[in-house]
Amino acid sequence: LRVAVLVSGSGSNLQVLIDAMQAGTLPIEIVGVISNREDAYAVTRAKEADIPVTVLSHVASGKRMSIKTFEAHASTQLSAWQPDLIVLAGFMRVLSAGFIDHAPAPMINLHPSLLPVYKGLDTHQRVIQAGDRHHGCSIHVVTAELDAGAVLTQALLVVDQKDTADSLQARVQKLEHQLLPWTLLLIATKALPLQSPSISAQSYLP
Ligand code: GRF
Repeated sequence: LRVAVLVSGSGSNLQVLIDAMQAGTLPIEIVGVISNREDAYAVTRAKEADIPVTVLSHVASGKRMSIKTFEAHASTQLSAWQPDLIVLAGFMRVLSAGFIDHAPAPMINLHPSLLPVYKGLDTHQRVIQAGDRHHGCSIHVVTAELDAGAVLTQALLVVDQKDTADSLQARVQKLEHQLLPWTLLLIATKALPLQSPSISAQSYLP
């Protein structure tokens, strides 16, 4: 499975994929990484693994690159890599409907909540404030509506009374590091179809 990864941050999820690819435990090839931030540590991780990386910094020479310009460059680059799948792993720019609809491959996103609850930002803080008993992360198909596409897989944890937003973030991130390679394995082995709207996370939980 040829996989392109879009990142904005530390890239710990990207690293998990790189490690699994190099160990031969996941049948994927990361064909390229796009970062919208030059200073993202994910860029260093990609370079160290000899993976082609394109930086489309959204703040270049003090000016914010418009989403249109970003998408035009990203689209050309992605098409050149010919991915089978595009993974948004900690990618923090909202993409337009046009870009999503014309992407050269299906696109999935990793989101730190048990969707459909807590779309958007500050999910851990909101879980604490609501006093929820469960939290976790989801991988879903990217559609024009933010964090609203079909949920493919989820991983869940039980919130502890002592948890804070920070501790939840750390705990959820550990779950993400398991959920992402596992989901890619299901996709690569065709156990998890991306096209069917009827798939639910539950049917794929071991
Ligand atoms: C993840 O926790 C993801 O849920 C959130 O951003 C984080 C990315 O982490 N949207 P990393 O860049 O993979 O380390």
